[in-house]
Amino acid sequence: MDSIKEDNSYSYSIKKIYSPLPCSQNDLVDSMQTYFTLYKESIAHPELFWGNIAKEIDWFEPWTKVSDGQFPHCQWFCGGKLNAAYNCLDRHLSGNRKNKTALLWEGEFGERLSYTYQELSQEVARYANVLRRHGVNFSDTVIIFMPLIPQAIITMLACARIGAIHSVVFAGFSAKSLLERIVDSGAKVIVSADGGFRRGKIIPLKERVDEALKHTTQIQKVLLFKRTGAPTGWCHGRDYWMEEEASLVENTCEPVSLDSEHPLFILYTSGTTGKPKGVVHSTGGYLVQTAFSSKIVFDLQEDDLYWCTADIGWITGHSYVVYGLLANGASVFIYEGAPDFPSYDRFWQLIEKYKITIFYTSPTAIRSFIKWGPQWIEKHDLSSLRLLGSVGEPINPDVFLWFYKNIGKEKCPIVDTWWQTETGSILISPLPKVTPMKPGSATFPLFGIEPEVVDEKGEPMPAGKNGLLVIKKPWPSMLRGIYRDEESFKKIYFSRIPGVYFTGDGAYKDEEGYFWIIGRIDDVINVSGHRIGSAELESALISHPAVAEAAVIGVPDSEKGEALIAFVTLKEGWTSSLDLENALKEHVVKEIGSIARPKEIRFIDALPKTRSGKIVRRLLKEISREGHISGDVTTLEDSQCLDKLIKG
Ligand code: PRX
Repeated sequence: MDSIKEDNSYSYSIKKIYSPLPCSQNDLVDSMQTYFTLYKESIAHPELFWGNIAKEIDWFEPWTKVSDGQFPHCQWFCGGKLNAAYNCLDRHLSGNRKNKTALLWEGEFGERLSYTYQELSQEVARYANVLRRHGVNFSDTVIIFMPLIPQAIITMLACARIGAIHSVVFAGFSAKSLLERIVDSGAKVIVSADGGFRRGKIIPLKERVDEALKHTTQIQKVLLFKRTGAPTGWCHGRDYWMEEEASLVENTCEPVSLDSEHPLFILYTSGTTGKPKGVVHSTGGYLVQTAFSSKIVFDLQEDDLYWCTADIGWITGHSYVVYGLLANGASVFIYEGAPDFPSYDRFWQLIEKYKITIFYTSPTAIRSFIKWGPQWIEKHDLSSLRLLGSVGEPINPDVFLWFYKNIGKEKCPIVDTWWQTETGSILISPLPKVTPMKPGSATFPLFGIEPEVVDEKGEPMPAGKNGLLVIKKPWPSMLRGIYRDEESFKKIYFSRIPGVYFTGDGAYKDEEGYFWIIGRIDDVINVSGHRIGSAELESALISHPAVAEAAVIGVPDSEKGEALIAFVTLKEGWTSSLDLENALKEHVVKEIGSIARPKEIRFIDALPKTRSGKIVRRLLKEISREGHISGDVTTLEDSQCLDKLIKG
């Protein structure tokens, strides 16, 4: 675990930006004074606060108690019964929203699909019936391995409708990563596609499914969508075309009444161990908080067209493409492809064409836009935009200002939203039109959330001093556990600082109480806003026959936030070469997926280790970032290896 440096001088020179948009009479919060008053009330009386918020969701049976239990095991809206798909669909069908666009999709080649709330609800019912027909029962886990097409979202909601638990695996993951998630989740059914498109090339999803299924007999049915039309292998009795199956069933399906604590989904994320963790989310608490935060953070209005560029394989796609937005009856735009294909102005074309009003993306994407130059933006009319958002990584103040000026034209507030797979919803964020922005700061906690920056003993840090970011009280959308791994759940989040939830992030608060997130302080690396555990990368490298030992670190990267550098020692008989470097990079891609491709492989004679044999990644980081070591190295087994590294 890293120690965190104390240099926050730059933030004080940053000027506040007051919202370019005034509040209207309909806004829930119209000033910082109201925010502080309501915030204090929400912290003083959380039961009252969350009890009122939960009334915005439709319940089949009311809860008897708002919350129960303490960290690590908390329950919310106890005894309440609801259905997430009903809340995202059916409840909008009785009024004007019935014919409102729920989902609007564009494919890489300009194909377009659109669903009203009524159409979406019928499709969801159909897929739910297909899932049942193929043996998916209440509480079964279904793996979804799909490109970003509407059918992926329909499948998620179909699972929710019948009380099955979805586990979406990002389509960029390898067959091996998919297999690992299949086995851990215990799923018997996979919903996938023949493939997907990325920059005009086919991503062979079915091939990866077939490869993964060579190593397990657990999966009984594979339901496939046709996206690319490319020929695929076929296993009779196991593989079925989803559309053919859907034509055989009814387009109605009663939503199952589920306990508030019934798991809605499992989403795997990288942690400090070599194995991805299956983060489990509930139905009631998750839905209440994602719906509420969507409404206040994105200031949703009935005529908005909202676009979040995240894939549904990540938590952002779950909370702020699907559940939070559809629960509010919003119109959601999704795009299958990359921002630079076929040209660098693809995103701006889409914003202009569809008149998108809210655009939520990542600092990595913004850094790419900056690199590609303003000429791609200037060609397009972006005047429909009224709100911008950022998520996934710290946003550098200059990147924030560029976004504000070049995309928002100084007319759109930016919400820099801090949260995690585990938190389920945004916990720290400005409220647009209300919170004065400080470029680079996620600003203040949302209602009902009590974050603090503390030292190792849990004592609050003074203003301006770096410490550990913790959340002091439970919140409705917090993770309910790590699937089949109670020990890691307790150890990772609740043991380092007793009595609170430890986020794994370093942060500080400035004198005005603004939160500044520095980044991960555990062995998790954030590449382009995607979490990758160093241990996972290291096991991938060690599985190559040439590698004896490996240590992977993240170093600052002007485009991706952090880039991966792998230090490896070779087994007897192998020598370093450019070919071997490339082979190792490819090996990691094959083992984990392309998001994990190391930027550089450095061959060294020995890794720095403590006498007890633990690799000290901190020193590798220091050498890579600063070219020297300032700390104590006397506890190392062999400090000479570091001298060589520094000279090298
Ligand atoms: O380090 C923080 C960073 O992303 C981590 C969570 O990653 P993940 O679970 O994949 O979820 C990403 C999408 C919510 C956090 O521990 N992070 C997320 N948002 C921000 C951020 N760092 C700084 N500022 C943010 N706004």
